[in-house]
Amino acid sequence: MAQKNRTVFVCANCGYSTPKWAGKCPDCNEWDTFEEQLPQSRQEINSSYAVTPLKLSDIGEYTEHRYDTGISELNRVLGGGLVKGSVVLLSGDPGIGKSTLLLQTTGSLGVSKNILYVSGEESAHQLKIRANRVGVTSNNLTVICDTDAEAVCAYMKKEMPDVVIIDSIQTMGIKEISSLPGSITQVRECSNLFMRYAKTLDIPVIIVGHVNKDGNIAGPKVLEHIVDCVLYFEGEKNLSYRILRAVKNRYGSTNEIGVFEMNDRGLCEVTNPSQALISGKPSNVSGSCIASVIEGSRPILAEVQGLVCQSGFGNPRRMSTGFDYNRMSLLVAVLEKRAGYFMGNCDIYVNIAGGLKIDEPASDLPVALTLISSLKDEVIRDDCISFGEIGLAGEIRSVSFAEMRIKEAIRLGFKKCIISEHNLKEIPEEYKNKIDIVAVNNIRSAYYEAIK
Ligand code: TYD
Ligand code: MG
Repeated sequence: MAQKNRTVFVCANCGYSTPKWAGKCPDCNEWDTFEEQLPQSRQEINSSYAVTPLKLSDIGEYTEHRYDTGISELNRVLGGGLVKGSVVLLSGDPGIGKSTLLLQTTGSLGVSKNILYVSGEESAHQLKIRANRVGVTSNNLTVICDTDAEAVCAYMKKEMPDVVIIDSIQTMGIKEISSLPGSITQVRECSNLFMRYAKTLDIPVIIVGHVNKDGNIAGPKVLEHIVDCVLYFEGEKNLSYRILRAVKNRYGSTNEIGVFEMNDRGLCEVTNPSQALISGKPSNVSGSCIASVIEGSRPILAEVQGLVCQSGFGNPRRMSTGFDYNRMSLLVAVLEKRAGYFMGNCDIYVNIAGGLKIDEPASDLPVALTLISSLKDEVIRDDCISFGEIGLAGEIRSVSFAEMRIKEAIRLGFKKCIISEHNLKEIPEEYKNKIDIVAVNNIRSAYYEAIK
């Protein structure tokens, strides 16, 4: 049967499509999310080539041109600066500081570049107040408070700014599309439009996207595969640290993070994150241990806190912030079965101080040590750090970048480092004079070293 041009109904939340309207999406279980999409007319395939193939050897050298944003933490996450003609998606929870970060970027970038700031959320006055607050006084900053995506693109084409900021994509709309701004169709079509203009005019566009309640960017991550670079701005809203993380980057490595601190004059860069993250560590208390994690290309020391106490209920409570919940449960099981630390009837809480999220196996050992320390109410030495993966047999396994981690610990004045014995051979001799490196192969001996 010939394919007819049929309308389809697409779920605005997850993108599921069906030929018939439905009240509840069978995929994501949201109600009343289906929107009608007009059929795309199929074009006849022409017999002549409509594409222009190129031999790899014929493609000329291209050196990507990067703008220095003036904020080194942002440059680092972008892979060395904002690439000309690239589209960057900056996403995060509402109120985390995306607009503030971008406005501050315009302050430093606006010294030499013309910037267009499109704000669909705030009025010009609100922007001005914020700019005064964070001390941005650029003459090269043009503000448009409008939500018409096509009008913005027309302006871009006419005035050719050097950088465009869209705050936010959920407020932008194309008039011809009947669905509301923020719906999946509008978000996708507007992003495609900005993408096309960015590429053809060679203007970098930074798009702000709010995360919806499931933690996805504007529905089913519709934007992530379109754009060149996806940055997440995250942190606990009531803590002052904010972490900027690249989860996709066509022009640099991912996993890079930038650390900022929010104060009353906006965001400031934290150039020594290890120092900042461990500065609040209480001394001489049980249930606290310093972990060394690698974020992108640099080591960061973070404080792991644990609390193990008798449960008042039949079902003990377990909670983990900044560390994977399942990983914590697994570690508790290993501690019970392989090392003889029984905490099955205890409430267990794990927290990474400062709002950092760590998901590296290397943090297994510090988390385990913290839990034992809290269980036995014994203090882990304040000048001790540890890293190592814990296997299901209770063994301490080697992790990568051991040398880098130890170097950071030495820099911050730590005196003892507990590592896996498999990591020992790669540690340069000169480090062994500066820090007491203890190689262990099981959890019990690691713990005895940590409290000794
Ligand atoms: P904002 O950039 O508006 O967040 P987003 O654009 O991601 O929604 O940040 C708003 C929060 O930042 C708000 O809760 C107040 C706080 N803030 C400060 O603490 N200090 C400041 O100087 C500014 C401008 C904002
Ligand atoms: Mg905002």
